[in-house]
Amino acid sequence: MKIIMVSIVAAATSLLAVGASAQSSPASAAATDPSAMIDQFEATFGKYEGYRRSGAKGICAMGEFVGSAAARGLSTASVFSGETVPVIVRFSVGGANPNAPDNTRGQRNMALQFDLPGGEQWQMGNISAPVFGSSSPQQLAGLLVSRQADPATGAANPDLVRAFNEANPEVLLQGSYFASQPVPASYAGVNYWGVHAYGFVNAAGVTQYGKWLFEPAAGTLGLTDEEAQARGANFLFDDLRQRVAQGAVAFDFNLELAEPGDTIDNATVPLPEGREKVSMGTLKVTSVSEDAGGSCLTITFNPMIMPAGVVPSADPMLAARAAPYVVSLSRRLTEGAKQ
Ligand code: HEM
Repeated sequence: MKIIMVSIVAAATSLLAVGASAQSSPASAAATDPSAMIDQFEATFGKYEGYRRSGAKGICAMGEFVGSAAARGLSTASVFSGETVPVIVRFSVGGANPNAPDNTRGQRNMALQFDLPGGEQWQMGNISAPVFGSSSPQQLAGLLVSRQADPATGAANPDLVRAFNEANPEVLLQGSYFASQPVPASYAGVNYWGVHAYGFVNAAGVTQYGKWLFEPAAGTLGLTDEEAQARGANFLFDDLRQRVAQGAVAFDFNLELAEPGDTIDNATVPLPEGREKVSMGTLKVTSVSEDAGGSCLTITFNPMIMPAGVVPSADPMLAARAAPYVVSLSRRLTEGAKQ
C-alpha cells in the first residue's frame, strides 16, 4: 500500500509540475492525473459499472508456484524459495467490455498475485503480446483521445487516428503482433509477457534486469478462423474449467536476461532475439472460481507491488500504472464489483 501511496503522490506532484497550460488538452490531463486517465478510458472504451476499466471479462482461479534453483541464483525473493507458494490467478480478454467475444484475435491477460511468507505479495498483469501498445502515459493518453468516438459520427475520426499513428508508429506494433497470431483456443494455451523490465537482486547484491514471459507447458493453442466462428463468443471459461479439472494447466515462468546496451525502459521494445532465457519456476493452475466472484473481485493486480529481491525498471509505463489501477478499483468497488 505504501508503494501505491507514493505513486499517487508522485502523480499529483507531476501534475503540479506540468502546470495549468498543459492541462488544456484531455490527453495531457489523462497523462498526469490518474482519475482523468480513467475518465479517458471510459470516454474511449465505454463505461461498464462494476467492471474493471480494462480486462473486464475475466475469471478468477487459484494456483501454486514453485521457484527454481536458477531463480534463487538471480534473486533473493522468497517467491523463489522452492517451497510451494499460493497464487491467485485472473485470466481475461483485453478491453473494457465485459461481453467481449472470446473468438476474435487480440489480447488475453493473465494477472497473478503470489501470496508470500510474512504478508509479502507479488502482483503482476501479463498480456499475450511481447509489447504494449504505447511507451509512455503521454502516448497512451494521446492514443485514447485519438480513438474516442466523435459525437457527430459515433466513430473515431479517421484523420485523427491516421495523424496519431503516423506521429507514433510504435503504437501499431502490438496490433500487428495480434494480427499475426491465431485466435487463442484456451487461456491455458497462450504466452503471457510482462512487457516491462524488472531487476532481480541476488544475495551478493547484483541486479540482473530482464523481461519475463509465462509459456504454457503444453504449448500454444490456436484456432483457425472457421474453428473460432464455430466456438462462439463464450467458450474460454468452460475450456479453462475442463483443462484445470484434468490437471493440465501449467506455465513455465521464463526470464530473458538483458545485456548491457539493451533497451529496458520501453514496453514497446522487446529484448533482442536470442537473449539467455532462465527458467524461474513453474506455475500450476489448480482450481477455477464457480462464478464471476472469487478472490479477484477486490484485487487490482498492481505491477508496482513486488517482493524484496525484485525491483522496478525505469520504464515510465510501469510506475504510471499504479495510480490509475487504484482509481479503477475504487470506482468498481463503489459501483458494486461484478467480476
Ligand atoms: C499507464 C498505463 C496503463 C493504464 C492507465 C492501465 C489501466 C488499467 C486499468 C484501469 C485496469 C483495470 C484495473 C482494475 O480495475 O483492477 C488494467 C488492467 C490490466 N492491465 Fe493495464 N494499464 C496500463 C498499462 C498496462 C500495461 C503496460 C500492461 C502490460 C502488461 C497492462 C496490463 C493489464 C492487465 C493484464 C490487466 C488486467 C488485470 C486484471 O485481471 O485485473 N496494462 N489496466
